[in-house]
Amino acid sequence: MSENTVLITGATRGIGRATATAFARKGYRVVVTGRSPEAVAGVVREMRAEGFAVEGETLDVCSIDSARCLAESIARRHEHLDVLVNNAGILPEATASGAVNFAHLGAFTDTLMTNTFGPVNVVEALLPLVRRAPAGHIVNISTEMGSLTEQRNPGSAYYPMVVPGYQASKAALNSLTVGLAKQLAGTGVRVTSVCPGFVATELAPAAADAPTAPADAAQMILAVAESAEATEAGAFVGAAGPIAW
Ligand SMILES: NC(=O)c1ccc[n+]([C@@H]2O[C@H](COP(=O)([O-])OP(=O)(O)OC[C@H]3O[C@@H](n4cnc5c(N)ncnc54)[C@H](OP(=O)(O)O)[C@@H]3O)[C@@H](O)[C@H]2O)c1
Repeated sequence: MSENTVLITGATRGIGRATATAFARKGYRVVVTGRSPEAVAGVVREMRAEGFAVEGETLDVCSIDSARCLAESIARRHEHLDVLVNNAGILPEATASGAVNFAHLGAFTDTLMTNTFGPVNVVEALLPLVRRAPAGHIVNISTEMGSLTEQRNPGSAYYPMVVPGYQASKAALNSLTVGLAKQLAGTGVRVTSVCPGFVATELAPAAADAPTAPADAAQMILAVAESAEATEAGAFVGAAGPIAW
């Protein structure tokens, strides 16, 4: 059994919640984080009832102060973090209403704030702890919809979909994966963008009937986090292997 520690953002439901269980089953100590203290406490209760080693922390990824408080709290208990999963994400364009020419400005701003600035805040605050790990891994939960190549590929299932804020937020997240991987080359810390597939969660109404169960997406995320193939150059992968940036 591993004694590694993983921290997951947005772990109160959906893919993040399932990922917490997948890592816990693999023997990791799991730090579950989320915006709602009550929701975090609920997950901690459920997971402890299953005998897992789990801790709960409140974190709003949109706030650097919240991320710094989290880092201070973690540093009091842990010397390092082995895996950081930047999972928290939103897709408000799926439910935004009203006429727009191209983009819902409010939804666009909120999406970039959570999906892109969020991981930046979290990395900025937690990177010193990840760097202290023997072989740290930052896993950014992205989507094939953020691939610029696939957005322009008429053969892609996602080709007809235009959600400008969501796609821009994940394309930018992928760019952060590349930049961070470069900055961390030689430190032993790897950085990977992962597309979990189309997963049945509350992210958007259309996701309610998605073909992939959160538990299956979580297994894939765990496998990627532990993959010896994850390189120092940064990677973008899905269930079927590498995805074009
Ligand atoms: N579902 C899919 O098909 C799919 C496909 C590709 C990629 N993804 C990505 O997978 C990730 C997880 O999505 P999901 O499908 O599991 O969605 P979900 O069920 O809606 O879960 C999202 C999680 O993020 C949290 N969150 C939202 N804003 C936050 C913030 N500011 N700070 C901290 N936590 C916050 C939510 O908690 P609250 O209760 O606080 O809102 C919730 O726990 C996202 O990054 C999404 O883009 C999903």
